[in-house]
Amino acid sequence: MKGIILAGGTGSRLSPLTKVTSKQLLPVYDRPMIYFPLQTLLKAGIKDILIIVSPEHSGDFMELLGSGKELGAELRYEVQDKPNGLAEAILIGEDFIDGKPCALILGDNIFTDDMSEVIQSFQSGAHVFVKEVHDPERFGVVEMNGDQVVSIEEKPETPKSNYAQTGLYLYDSTVVAKAKSLAPSKRGELEITDLNRKYLDEGSLKATVVKGEWIDAGTFESLFRANQVIRELSR
Ligand code: TTP
Repeated sequence: MKGIILAGGTGSRLSPLTKVTSKQLLPVYDRPMIYFPLQTLLKAGIKDILIIVSPEHSGDFMELLGSGKELGAELRYEVQDKPNGLAEAILIGEDFIDGKPCALILGDNIFTDDMSEVIQSFQSGAHVFVKEVHDPERFGVVEMNGDQVVSIEEKPETPKSNYAQTGLYLYDSTVVAKAKSLAPSKRGELEITDLNRKYLDEGSLKATVVKGEWIDAGTFESLFRANQVIRELSR
């Protein structure tokens, strides 16, 4: 399986921290943020990894991570010219994916669980990872029957469950064709929820509940909490 880390975006909610650097290069206790999604993939045995970066910071990622040899990874880089949405990663990564299944992870998502078992047993369709939250209306909300997803709604006013879609997704080889058929949403982005809904419509979208911590380190509060959680785990 191939891996893609989305490390572009603007990080506007973390301004001015992100004025001269990328959010995914900010420190989380003792490491740059991107080390965490990278480790999530590496732990699951995914070594062939594409990192998608914004044009302004591409050189910094290469300087930090290089070929990936030191980390036991084989890294490639692609530039996303504009933050056109998460699902654009699949279009940018088409050649890299090369008809294989892939795991897509957001560069600001920190998981403390080991996801290896689910990732390694993935066969077909798509798989999302969900976490119970107290404010589901802020997220993509996933309703499940067992491990089968029955509905997925982006920031609904009346959520059908308390399960939020996290930033880790597994896709089979049909993902490129599905991403190509997406149209931009009202906010002008290719939405990951729309991509996942294509699998849902085929009855092939499954979900796993994340047991450990899941932190989307995109706000001052969550970035601070990420620092605390990783510090605790490192002691
Ligand atoms: P977001 O947190 O949704 O967006 P952002 O990082 O630009 O931050 P803000 O909303 O504060 O401006 O993005 C989630 C992750 O996906 C993050 O790691 C950045 C990445 N991303 C891209 O690489 N390309 C994109 O087009 C988008 C929207 C996000």
